[in-house]
Amino acid sequence: MASSAPPAPAVLAVALTVALLASSAWAAVTYDRKAVVVNGQRRILLSGSIHYPRSVPEMWPDLIQKAKDGGLDVVQTYVFWNGHEPSPGQYHFEGRYDLVHFIKLVKQAGLYVHLRIGPYVCAEWNFGGFPIWLKYVPGISFRTDNEPFKAEMQKFTTKIVQMMKSERLFEWQGGPIILSQIENEFGPLEWDQGEPAKDYASWAANMAMALNTGVPWIMCKEDDAPDPIINTCNGFYCDWFSPNKPHKPTMWTEAWTAWYTGFGIPVPHRPVEDLAYGVAKFIQKGGSFVNYYMYHGGTNFERTAGGPFIATSYDYDAPLDEYGLLREPKWGHLKELHRAIKLCEPALVAADPILSSLGNAQKASVFRSSTGACAAFLENKHKLSYARVSFNGMHYDLPPWSISILPDCKTTVFNTARVGSQISQMKMEWAGGLTWQSYNEEINSFSELESFTTVGLLEQINMTRDNTDYLWYTTYVDVAKDEQFLTSGKNPKLTVMSAGHALHVFINGQLSGTVYGSVENPKLTYTGKVKLWSGSNTISCLSIAVGLPNVGEHFETWNAGILGPVTLDGLNEGKRDLTWQKWTYQVGLKGEAMSLHSLSGSSSVEWGEPVQKQPLTWYKAFFNAPDGDEPLALDMNSMGKGQIWINGQGIGRYWPGYKASGTCGHCDYRGEYNETKCQTNCGDPSQRWYHVPRPWLNPTGNLLVIFEEWGGDPTGISMVKRTTGSVCADVSEWQPSIKNWRTKDYEKAEVHLQCDHGRKITEIKFASFGTPQGSCGNYSEGGCHAHRSYDIFKKNCINQEWCGVSVVPEAFGGDPCPGTMKRAVVEVTCS
Ligand SMILES: *[C@@H]1O[C@H](CO)[C@@H](O)[C@H](O)[C@H]1NC(C)=O
Ligand SMILES: *[C@@H]1O[C@H](CO)[C@@H](O)[C@H](O)[C@H]1NC(C)=O
Ligand SMILES: *[C@@H]1O[C@H](CO)[C@@H](O)[C@H](O)[C@H]1NC(C)=O
Repeated sequence: MASSAPPAPAVLAVALTVALLASSAWAAVTYDRKAVVVNGQRRILLSGSIHYPRSVPEMWPDLIQKAKDGGLDVVQTYVFWNGHEPSPGQYHFEGRYDLVHFIKLVKQAGLYVHLRIGPYVCAEWNFGGFPIWLKYVPGISFRTDNEPFKAEMQKFTTKIVQMMKSERLFEWQGGPIILSQIENEFGPLEWDQGEPAKDYASWAANMAMALNTGVPWIMCKEDDAPDPIINTCNGFYCDWFSPNKPHKPTMWTEAWTAWYTGFGIPVPHRPVEDLAYGVAKFIQKGGSFVNYYMYHGGTNFERTAGGPFIATSYDYDAPLDEYGLLREPKWGHLKELHRAIKLCEPALVAADPILSSLGNAQKASVFRSSTGACAAFLENKHKLSYARVSFNGMHYDLPPWSISILPDCKTTVFNTARVGSQISQMKMEWAGGLTWQSYNEEINSFSELESFTTVGLLEQINMTRDNTDYLWYTTYVDVAKDEQFLTSGKNPKLTVMSAGHALHVFINGQLSGTVYGSVENPKLTYTGKVKLWSGSNTISCLSIAVGLPNVGEHFETWNAGILGPVTLDGLNEGKRDLTWQKWTYQVGLKGEAMSLHSLSGSSSVEWGEPVQKQPLTWYKAFFNAPDGDEPLALDMNSMGKGQIWINGQGIGRYWPGYKASGTCGHCDYRGEYNETKCQTNCGDPSQRWYHVPRPWLNPTGNLLVIFEEWGGDPTGISMVKRTTGSVCADVSEWQPSIKNWRTKDYEKAEVHLQCDHGRKITEIKFASFGTPQGSCGNYSEGGCHAHRSYDIFKKNCINQEWCGVSVVPEAFGGDPCPGTMKRAVVEVTCS
């Protein structure tokens, strides 16, 4: 946006650190009731969340550039404490955790940063971002008025702020950081806990303020945020939200682009028409900061997924998909929205909206500045019907559940429900099979170093300290010769109660059953008839954590593993309680102790011919990097549950064996959205493909290692490339367009098609100017069709990387059906 007239910053509510101001050529970032003020200017800021450890550093410049091209001003990220301080005082800021490098790249691209230090982040991230050692600090109680907790929180927050200062990354130092966040979604805990929580929140606010960052602090979902901290909104919609003081700006820290994926639940999608509507509603209400959560969701590599049961993909149906590719039309439609909002910026920052009714469910919000700028938002909130409204003496057609944006109070340049951007259909293309060898994980072989025996059942996380998902619980049961079941064949029933999250039960070395919890309830109970023999029997239970919880209170109290009771029913004596007998524990797998996932570890053992459908098996294969530069993934559809490593790097947990159960089906953008409204994958794996970052590969000889728990078929695994299948566009004659507004050439809508870099349009699969039907991949001609439709697209588009065709009858050799509203619809292949 070109410079707008400087607003009169009537109330600069926070006089932040005057000393800093005096010593710096840059002004501190402040705010007033309208907006965040950067360099003396109120700004409408569009922001997007990109979490640095959820991609690899080689992807960062491209992700940031695509955020900029998509019309964002700000990149927002959390700071991931458990990644940065894996053990007390041992810091890690390398590779995917190179926070400073990430922020400097954002600056290089000319964007700002919103740094959400937390340090509690939730984020569907393991343990909400808390290091696991924090749970074992004596006397600790999380996120409340507790000295040990506050001391650690202050230490880490201070460390991050000092690091940012010494790297000169705050805005007043010439850096990109304009906003920070302390705590995260704390409001709900205050409701639950009362006084201690209130004391803690005000302590956190004071602690943060005392760090003198020279930029405003925010607290999201915290109505009581003490002054001068700004309370902000998170949600699918935030037009209902007002800050807790009239001198604070209206900010939306998390505009949810959809929702996370969990193992066992369907995959959520949010239609861009509804997301754009939510954002436009917020701006028309007077909001001045919107952050998309997520703009790029990325991947929960290694064991960073929270949970339990959060999937490895954190795609979030974001405008940039998990692989960093544009998700179209979501990215493109939001880009158009951002351009429309920016055209309105001079009026938006200068004035409060004046509302007028245009009908039962229709209204206008008009921003008029004293210098003559005028912007209008026309809303039709009816869930079903189109509306024709009169505004300023003109007629406007408004689709249901939509807002039109008029940057001059006359011309519609954008409507949230009119998607003119191209639609890209992505596909996973086979890029190579694999040749496997296998190695059996040993059961019941205990080394003196790693195992120990004690009476009773122990909590799992205390034992593993989350260094591994796995803990073995083993006990022995003596069966007397005179047990009746030995002759009657009525096997006894074993019951194992566990706090979570998954469990395999082995009787005398044979898998007897598998149970697991769910996103809603991590607890589980195994019950099954078990085959015991006369004499000593071994009961071995492999208890598995699937990501530690990331949301809630009192993290110090959360448990996993077999806490009992464990009973055996159907013996001569009736029921035998095994809870308080001797149990032998082993933390982790043999293969983990031998580092089988690494090159050196894997070459230290003999691998054999691949076996199929065998539980607890390691597989390895060597492969060459597929050619090209398309993103890569592993198709794990044939497998059950486990983990993947490539060249020693953790790809993450896989679990295609856990099928998604829920409601899927037709998705209509109209009406209130929630995370269960537009779902896919019902009856299928929640996640089938697992992102393999190309920068982790060598040209040849890459080591792929898999640990399979259930017994899958490794011969079904393949490497795939993510490519664009078809590109489609569907543009009506009266598609609003900013370009048209600039040229005052109101009539002409245009179809645009763009292939991925280096590809050209090679085939027109469908083209029709008229009244075609269907959706991308499935179009058909309607009653009205211009016969030259194909020819026109062939002539303009074949062998082009990019093409545009005007949506007017003249371009198609005349009007095929005068008086009918027509669309140009096209599907092409790029290769
Ligand atoms: C963790 O385990 C140790 C050793 O068994 C025990 O002394 C301690 O009480 C446990 N701590 C918690 C929080 O369960
Ligand atoms: C979510 O949306 C679906 C479909 O629109 C609806 O049936 C359901 O009641 C909604 N759930 C909640 C919690 O609002
Ligand atoms: C394709 O579209 C037609 C009508 O336009 C519809 O009947 C059919 O079910 C669609 N097929 C698919 C696979 O979506």
